[in-house]
Amino acid sequence: MIPTAGYRIPHFPQENPVNLNTWRGLRVAFLALALIAFAACDKGKKGDGGGGGSTGGGASATGPIKIGHFASMTGPQATFGISTDQAIRLAIKERNAKGGVKGRKIELVTIDDAGKQSEAATAVTRLINDDHVVAVLGEVASSLSLAGGPIAQKAKIPMISPSSTNPDVTDIGDYVFRVCFLDDFQGWVDAKFAKDNLKATKAAILYDQAQAYSSGLADYFDKAFKDLGGTIVTKQAYTGGNLEISSQLQSIKGSGAEVVFLPGYYSDAGTIIRKAREAGITAPFLGGDGWDSEELPKIAGDAINGNYFSNHYAPEEDRPEVKNFVENFKKEYGKTADGLAALGYDAALVLFDAMERAPSLSGKDLRDALAATKGFTGVTGTFSIDENRNAQKSAVIIEYKGGKQTMAARIEKK
Ligand code: PHE
Repeated sequence: MIPTAGYRIPHFPQENPVNLNTWRGLRVAFLALALIAFAACDKGKKGDGGGGGSTGGGASATGPIKIGHFASMTGPQATFGISTDQAIRLAIKERNAKGGVKGRKIELVTIDDAGKQSEAATAVTRLINDDHVVAVLGEVASSLSLAGGPIAQKAKIPMISPSSTNPDVTDIGDYVFRVCFLDDFQGWVDAKFAKDNLKATKAAILYDQAQAYSSGLADYFDKAFKDLGGTIVTKQAYTGGNLEISSQLQSIKGSGAEVVFLPGYYSDAGTIIRKAREAGITAPFLGGDGWDSEELPKIAGDAINGNYFSNHYAPEEDRPEVKNFVENFKKEYGKTADGLAALGYDAALVLFDAMERAPSLSGKDLRDALAATKGFTGVTGTFSIDENRNAQKSAVIIEYKGGKQTMAARIEKK
């Protein structure tokens, strides 16, 4: 059989920090081959979608247990995929050093989706049909989980999103889980912080209309801020990657907003904040977890200081799980783990825990074991998987000061 090619990187090197150019180069170099291989594989795959989990990559074999990861290793959200993948690989390395799961080693297959919905769907199909993974980890971005999730659901292979916060993601079906909080909660956290800590009564909203995450979070913030007695003075939209937004910025400037809620992804948010300051907007910006990237302060420059965003964890937290993780991640990759890494690590640990408890690694048994996860203590806190396959957790607010992140507040569940 023609080997699966393209941006499928089964042995992503964990020792070396990822060079984005290498990733791009690989993608281009293999693209032609990928198309041929994909077409060839696709022919033999017809009618194969229903039961990928019962054989092959692990369910009944004795070799390594294969798990899949679909992620934006390249593209406008590349740091999301890279951080998550690094943390999952660290979790696997640590677990394999202790003997793996059910006495078997764990092996990760990562497929790059480049941050595109069509590629996310293809990636999940290939992980299940070609690699026969027992479970899928991913995606980060909600729109990409919404694209890949239905494929895992149809094949009855459990999928765990580490970090997609849009409520619709787990509504896909009973095989789709997440280990992060949801955006109805996150929107409320941001509104509460704006009201109580920033003492704002008037807020502007500027959101990315192309992302389910951003438009959903904008709506949740809008509602929560009003419920808390505040006023939304203007609500403006942009489309990710297209930042001709001077008219939106002018509207915000003239609106009297005391805070600007900007629930977008880091590459757009960094540029928008810089442009807003140049346009004379002085109100603080407040974002959601989508700001979480080491690239954000590089893109925004000095303009990043004095702004805030909600997130899933703070590396400076004093819990043993956080300290160990931050130390080991730093040893492995030479940098501080971000929230994506913390959630990727927790998603992998939740999966190992369920795999160990499940009577077999069939999709059904693994699904049931995941659904029974209770009181799990990870890097991002202690949580249970509820009846809707979601995790309920607290959030932190991070402030940028002197180009660095510091924890400004922790906000507990409503
Ligand atoms: N919550 C974002 C989404 O659902 C993804 C994200 C999570 C980004 C955590 C950064 C950090 O799209």
